[in-house]
Amino acid sequence: MHRLAACWILLHIAASCSFFLIAHARKQPALGSDLNVTARCLPHEREALLAFKNGITNDSTNLLASWRPAQDCCRWTGIACSSQTGHVLKLDLNGAYSFYPPLYGQISPSLLSLDHLEYLDLGSNFLEGPNGSVPEFLGSMKNLRHLDLSYIPFSGTVPLLLSNLSKLEYLDLSFTSFFGRMPPQLGNLSKLQYLDLSWMWNDTYSTDISWLSHLNMLEYIDMSNVTLSTIVNWPSVVNMVPTLKHIKLMNCSLPSANRSISHLNLTELEELDLTWNYFGHPIASCWFWNVTTIKLLYLDHTNLYGPFPDDLGEMVSLQHLDFSYNRNAATLTVDLKNLCELESLYLDNSLSSGNITELVQKLPQCSSRKFYALSSVSNNMTGIFPNTIDHLTSLTTIILTNNSISGAIPPGIRNCTNLEYVHFSSNQLSGQIPLLPRSLRVFEVSMNFLSGHLPLEFGAPNFETLIISFNYITGQVPRSICESQNMAFLDLSNNIFEGELPYCSRMPSLRFLLASNNNFSGKFPPWLQGFSSLVFLDLSWNKFYGSLPSWIGDLANLRILYLSRNMFYGDIPASITDLRALQYLDLAANNMSGSIPRSLSNLVGMTLKHPSGSSDDLYSTLSFDESQDLFALVMKHQVLKYGSHGIVSVVGIDLSLNQLTGEIPDEITSLSMALNLNLSWNHLSGKIPENIGSMKSVESLDLSRNNLSGEIPRSFSDLTYISYLDLSYNNLTGMVPSGRQLDTLYTENPSMYYGNNDLCGPPLQRNCSVNNAPGHRNQQESKTDSDSAFFYYGLGSGLAVGLWVVLFALLFKKT
Ligand SMILES: *[C@@H]1O[C@H](CO)[C@@H](O)[C@H](O)[C@H]1NC(C)=O
Ligand SMILES: *[C@@H]1O[C@H](CO)[C@@H](O)[C@H](O)[C@H]1NC(C)=O
Ligand SMILES: *[C@@H]1O[C@H](CO)[C@@H](O)[C@H](O)[C@H]1NC(C)=O
Ligand SMILES: *[C@@H]1O[C@H](CO)[C@@H](O)[C@H](O)[C@H]1NC(C)=O
Ligand SMILES: *[C@@H]1O[C@H](CO)[C@@H](O)[C@H](O)[C@H]1NC(C)=O
Ligand SMILES: *[C@@H]1O[C@H](CO)[C@@H](O)[C@H](O)[C@H]1NC(C)=O
Ligand SMILES: *[C@@H]1O[C@H](CO)[C@@H](O)[C@H](O)[C@H]1NC(C)=O
Ligand SMILES: *[C@@H]1O[C@H](CO)[C@@H](O)[C@H](O)[C@H]1NC(C)=O
Ligand SMILES: *[C@@H]1O[C@H](CO)[C@@H](O)[C@H](O)[C@H]1NC(C)=O
Ligand SMILES: *[C@@H]1O[C@H](CO)[C@@H](O)[C@H](O)[C@H]1NC(C)=O
Ligand SMILES: *[C@@H]1O[C@H](CO)[C@@H](O)[C@H](O)[C@H]1NC(C)=O
Ligand SMILES: *[C@@H]1O[C@H](CO)[C@@H](O)[C@H](O)[C@H]1NC(C)=O
Repeated sequence: MHRLAACWILLHIAASCSFFLIAHARKQPALGSDLNVTARCLPHEREALLAFKNGITNDSTNLLASWRPAQDCCRWTGIACSSQTGHVLKLDLNGAYSFYPPLYGQISPSLLSLDHLEYLDLGSNFLEGPNGSVPEFLGSMKNLRHLDLSYIPFSGTVPLLLSNLSKLEYLDLSFTSFFGRMPPQLGNLSKLQYLDLSWMWNDTYSTDISWLSHLNMLEYIDMSNVTLSTIVNWPSVVNMVPTLKHIKLMNCSLPSANRSISHLNLTELEELDLTWNYFGHPIASCWFWNVTTIKLLYLDHTNLYGPFPDDLGEMVSLQHLDFSYNRNAATLTVDLKNLCELESLYLDNSLSSGNITELVQKLPQCSSRKFYALSSVSNNMTGIFPNTIDHLTSLTTIILTNNSISGAIPPGIRNCTNLEYVHFSSNQLSGQIPLLPRSLRVFEVSMNFLSGHLPLEFGAPNFETLIISFNYITGQVPRSICESQNMAFLDLSNNIFEGELPYCSRMPSLRFLLASNNNFSGKFPPWLQGFSSLVFLDLSWNKFYGSLPSWIGDLANLRILYLSRNMFYGDIPASITDLRALQYLDLAANNMSGSIPRSLSNLVGMTLKHPSGSSDDLYSTLSFDESQDLFALVMKHQVLKYGSHGIVSVVGIDLSLNQLTGEIPDEITSLSMALNLNLSWNHLSGKIPENIGSMKSVESLDLSRNNLSGEIPRSFSDLTYISYLDLSYNNLTGMVPSGRQLDTLYTENPSMYYGNNDLCGPPLQRNCSVNNAPGHRNQQESKTDSDSAFFYYGLGSGLAVGLWVVLFALLFKKT
């Protein structure tokens, strides 16, 4: 839960930046040219300001360092005075620019002495004082034109006293902690141009917003997160305020957006944000399709359905339309070719069907082309990608993940010379990958039917993410991909590549290299030496051979190492235990010989509870764009490849199917977070470490098909999470340990002790003779269920990351 809280804080910071930018863009002209910093301040006003400073208990960024008694207060940080009279007109200490709120304390009533003050901005500071209520004297500051208290955690009901400030033009109470009803008295503030009552962190509501119609100079209204569930006529109310340019009513539980206006007054409307209101009626019956001045239209998460009306094609001012996450019940066949201002179109998870050929043909075709982003994820789209894509020269982003688009990637894509982000994964694309534009940063086409060789000059200097896994691509990987020196994520897995990996020694940022399930050959890639940024390396299911280099221990950030199903041979380098971050080591089904390195207890990555969850760590090094895709991709890969636990939370060692000899080192039992330990099908001898029961997290333990001898340690009974155990075909002797978990496992898998001729005792048939029945320690079965939360915690944090990414994406999309 605290993870979600952290998300909100991040959201809060991001929001504060964007809101602040908007606010500031509008603030500057609010005060006239009567500001003159060369004027000298009046002594009683300086005293009032010093008293204000006294109310500050912590000035964490030294914002008020210049506020010294001997100085002219008109030159202090945040102050501006009138050139004629020297009166302080402006006090601006908004803390939004710093990461931490700079000021703590309370707002001193001394400010009342600044009786010419027009502009007061204390936003984003902890100035709510000990009791958190808004200071009453504010209601008497009659000359205020601009008041910003946003992000100050004031509580109590939304203060009525503000409705006395009849000169107010700008009022921002967003992200405070007021609650309750929005006072209709706000309608007295007839000079208001800007009103922000959004996101007060608590229940706020209004059952009648007709007071808005008195604000006949209002240009900006934001009541996001104020519950307006009973206000059916809200379009008529806003229509009474013809000056409105920005209407933001996100998450207001608005009942409907149906047409209820006879004559449209809103001739200046530029922005309409209705995100997260679940209307559930036809798109076409919305009231705003006639408003041809709208530039920004946000209708994501509104559950609108049915066809878009043709009026959309006449909204010639439209720049951004977000219609994502609307339950796949809409259709878009409107011709958009006249929307010359259109820059982005987001339709993810909203259409019931579509044809990419037609959609691309209907995109704007004006000479002044501005269209840069098309996103249509999971929309059941069919059709073939038309080569006319090369007309979209301004396109930077095209996201069509998870549709049924077929045909080849058109060669014309090469001419989209601004293209940076291409996401075509999970479609039915076929044919060869053509030459791509040099501008690309992300190219993601996994899970298609692409085939043939990669073009010889495949690559782009700015590639950061290249994901072409799960296709049928053949031949060698061209050396040209090595020119991408910023590559962070390279996924070639599950194709039919052959030959050696190209020698890309200059990819200093490479973090993920996935090449599994191909026909790659050659030695362990020598060029990876010194790649200390590498986090994830998967070369499994190929034909790599030779010994593992001892410099493998220098890959200091390596978390996941999958080398299974190759033809590696020789000793496991002892340096592998230098990989302190290592979480999974898989060398299964190679020809490794020698013994298991002793210093396994150095693998602290397998002993600690993962410092801060796990998945976020693994991906935190990636940009938002990358992590958004990777998250989806990784989820899919997990299921396809890494099993239900996925790579996110897997911890363990798999050395099965090799030629390892010697004993199992006792140190292995210190890997207390390992979920999986598989040493089967080797030639290990000696005893099973006595202390094996301290591998508390183990869920799967396979030591079968070795030459292990001696008794089965009693501590096996401590492995309370174990769900798979195989000790078969060894030379184990004596009494089998008991315990509820072990008995259950035996019932499910009676072969788990097979091939050990000298085992005895229940549940086996064979009775123990007196001399092989050692004293039976009492079982300790007091583990509580809460401990098993580790795995779910991992999953949960993964979800939180996903949510966080989505929230961020929403925000960035809009700014
Ligand atoms: C500022 O005030 C000084 C002296 O009061 C005056 O000379 C100057 O012109 C003023 N500047 C502006 C921009 O008003
Ligand atoms: C002041 O705030 C800073 C930043 O939040 C904090 O590190 C510091 O401990 C605070 N000092 C006092 C005296 O509260
Ligand atoms: C809150 O504290 C201020 C002084 O900091 C005081 O004037 C006001 O009366 C207090 N309000 C309540 C409700 O206690
Ligand atoms: C939220 O509002 C309730 C009253 O509806 C109030 O009791 C509570 O203190 C408020 N919470 C905060 C954090 O302000
Ligand atoms: C508003 O101002 C009037 C007179 O100026 C005063 O009587 C009243 O108390 C004020 N109301 C609030 C809520 O401050
Ligand atoms: C939004 O409103 C809900 C109550 O309806 C409240 O619990 C939540 O804190 C508010 N969120 C923000 C960010 O203000
Ligand atoms: C248009 O706005 C004017 C001015 O606020 C108002 O009087 C009129 O009723 C509005 N028209 C409609 C149809 O709401
Ligand atoms: C809005 O468009 C509809 C058709 O969708 C039309 O009937 C109506 O007259 C238009 N209203 C205005 C005010 O332009
Ligand atoms: C996808 O489109 C096909 C027809 O093209 C339709 O039969 C199917 O129901 C659609 N799937 C969804 C989820 O809308
Ligand atoms: C998509 O549209 C094109 C052009 O209208 C048409 O030729 C093609 O048959 C359509 N494809 C599908 C699958 O409907
Ligand atoms: C790119 O555009 C040029 C000039 O319009 C054209 O000659 C060329 O064939 C195009 N390339 C592709 C791959 O379509
Ligand atoms: C099994 O272990 C016993 C001693 O415990 C030893 O005498 C015997 O040779 C071992 N058998 C094999 C096949 O290793």
